[in-house]
Amino acid sequence: MKICLKNAISFVPEGTMTTLAAQTQAANELLENGQGAGNDFLGWVHLPSETTEALLNDIQATADKLRAKAQIIVVAGIGGSYLGPRAVNEALDHTFGLNGNNPKVVYAGNNIGEDYLADLMELLEGKTFAIINISKSGTTTETALAFRLLKTMLEKQVGKAEAKDLIVCITDKAKGAARKVAEIEGYKTFVIPDNVGGRFSVLTPVGLLPIACAGHDIKALIQGARDMEKATGVEVAYENNPACQYAAMRNALYQFGKKIEIMANFNPKVHYFAEWWKQLYGESEGKDHKAIFPASVDLTTDLHSMGQWIQDGERSIFETVISIENPNKKVIFPKDEQNLDGLNFLAGKRVDEVNKMAELGTQLAHVDGGVPNIKISFEKVDEYNLGQFIYFFERGCGISGYMLGVNPFNQPGVEAYKKNMFALLDKPGYEEESKAIKMRLGV
Ligand code: PA5
Repeated sequence: MKICLKNAISFVPEGTMTTLAAQTQAANELLENGQGAGNDFLGWVHLPSETTEALLNDIQATADKLRAKAQIIVVAGIGGSYLGPRAVNEALDHTFGLNGNNPKVVYAGNNIGEDYLADLMELLEGKTFAIINISKSGTTTETALAFRLLKTMLEKQVGKAEAKDLIVCITDKAKGAARKVAEIEGYKTFVIPDNVGGRFSVLTPVGLLPIACAGHDIKALIQGARDMEKATGVEVAYENNPACQYAAMRNALYQFGKKIEIMANFNPKVHYFAEWWKQLYGESEGKDHKAIFPASVDLTTDLHSMGQWIQDGERSIFETVISIENPNKKVIFPKDEQNLDGLNFLAGKRVDEVNKMAELGTQLAHVDGGVPNIKISFEKVDEYNLGQFIYFFERGCGISGYMLGVNPFNQPGVEAYKKNMFALLDKPGYEEESKAIKMRLGV
């Protein structure tokens, strides 16, 4: 993994980076010594190096059992209990679903769309399916609603006794509704550690079990994360520490009016990584009426839609480009004797050569147009590099959030919509809120 700041640094006044480099060091120390805000949620900092072989083997054995029995595995979860495993699986799976003998992994509980759930139930009808129910709190409506529907359907299809072996719950170790249900029904469970928040949980069973179920190598993923944990540690000086450099640069750009960070990729495989990253940074930093707004584009696709805005719109943006150095497969562009499309100048080249020139051309155009550019390169899309990717952005987020002066590990703002929804649905315990909201709406 490499980070290149040379196309961003010219957008901030001289001397800025020296001050911010010192701030990254202080912020990184807070992550290490636990003296900062939200310090009861720092379990992710040394999670990769502390993950035991025994846990990885247990997860793999559970995945193998589900894989042997189920044609489809439904992962129910939302936010931090969903985006990480989906990002890894979408990156590593075959783009068009040719995944050999691996079961199909699908996702539920991340929305309340009735048509979505009806379509899912149609897909599952008559198939052997398993459910991984992921919820740290166990009270998240979207997930709980999907789980009840799926559990009811599964029990109807295979009977309660057989269903028990096809359901796994990943939740907190003691509290909450999901734990109670799992214990009463006798499901296999995994624990989300108390000190790891949802959006930092992809390297716990939350991510690892669905990733192993899809047939991917969780040990290589953890190894990548372990190596990045070392590379971004507090003892690594700013000049060699990519997480500190990233956090410093984005905070510098923010101070000088760049309020929107657009993560851009030139490889559709990493589309969901941008979704994961948006949640990680948006939910961690968007507090006290401040913080960069994390956005994303898929290129070159979106050069034909958002490209115009990026090139010429308001100059309040910067780009963080995820560059994948080598594709895993090879496609050579063919020669055509007639050359009716005039494309013979590309004959004999790999498609990736064209893509790389599009990437370079776009970078130069956007920088010329006043868009600072941070480039983050990974060698290829595999488990090891994705492990690095995950930990790099987690560490960068912790450092960046502390530099911004917020608690990166809570999410008080998420409660507002829930309170209104429960009041509108007359949830027991919300009687006062129900009365107030109905009065406000005049119903
Ligand atoms: O990052 C977070 O903490 C949130 O996005 C949660 O992961 C999300 O709200 C789901 O919560 P839970 O796992 O309790 O169902």
